[in-house]
Amino acid sequence: MVDNFKTKDMKFLIKKNKISKFSFGSSLAKAFRSIYYSFLFGERKIYANFFRNVIDIIEKKYKLADSPVGEDVWEAQYINGRWKKLNNLHEVAHYSAIIGYIQYLKPKSSILDVGCGEGILFRRFKPNGYFRYIGIDISQTAINTLAQDQDENSRFIVTDAETYVSQELFDVIIFNEVLYYFLNPLKTVIRYADLLKDSGIIIVSTYTRSDRAKAILRQIKTKLSLLDEVKITHSPRSWIVSVFIHSKMA
Ligand SMILES: C[S@@+](CC[C@H](N)C(=O)[O-])C[C@H]1O[C@@H](n2cnc3c(N)ncnc32)[C@H](O)[C@@H]1O
Repeated sequence: MVDNFKTKDMKFLIKKNKISKFSFGSSLAKAFRSIYYSFLFGERKIYANFFRNVIDIIEKKYKLADSPVGEDVWEAQYINGRWKKLNNLHEVAHYSAIIGYIQYLKPKSSILDVGCGEGILFRRFKPNGYFRYIGIDISQTAINTLAQDQDENSRFIVTDAETYVSQELFDVIIFNEVLYYFLNPLKTVIRYADLLKDSGIIIVSTYTRSDRAKAILRQIKTKLSLLDEVKITHSPRSWIVSVFIHSKMA
């Protein structure tokens, strides 16, 4: 009985020790990551590349929620219903800000929704009407949920947005909580900016708890002109919704 207790106790201590080692490692990784995204992200210097490689290793090891993951991970998450939470009340204001910008700036336009997921934005936007609505996403399961919503003016495509090539131009291109999952978010946004029609807009939504997301937004602002921006807070969460036009900053 006593031995049994000791064994259990030992197991507990070993487990506890492992946990504390893990949390020490993960806190260090988080601190390192925070420094990288605050000061070095987007830099082209050799030392920045070195840090970037370290960050890649950290993000893979700790599978952080705001960093790139494979298509299989997205599939599994959609199959187990993880993203149904985006339908919750606390997300309404965030989606409404994006819809409001499109409706005000580009009514009845052609829209490309990059990383459209299960089409929450599309379904809420639909009553406003559109000339064309294309949604792309890496998850087959997410896109399947849109099969019945597709009409002659809308299409939903399974593809990797980082390699997707479009023959069409758009009035509005949306990156709603998706850029920080890309391996090369800046390169990808700039590539998509070339798909804008004259005076077209890019809408980027950024989750403010993510250092990576905030760093990406900061860098986009050095490449594209900011037309307008709003911060939505539904405590404890906040999102920044930014509207860009293609012309380079003066
Ligand atoms: C947080 S969800 C946001 C979904 C949707 N934009 C929304 O807000 O309702 C991120 C989405 O990005 C998609 N995604 C991630 N990496 C992608 C890639 N390389 N190409 C296309 N879609 C991608 C995921 O499958 C997922 O649907």
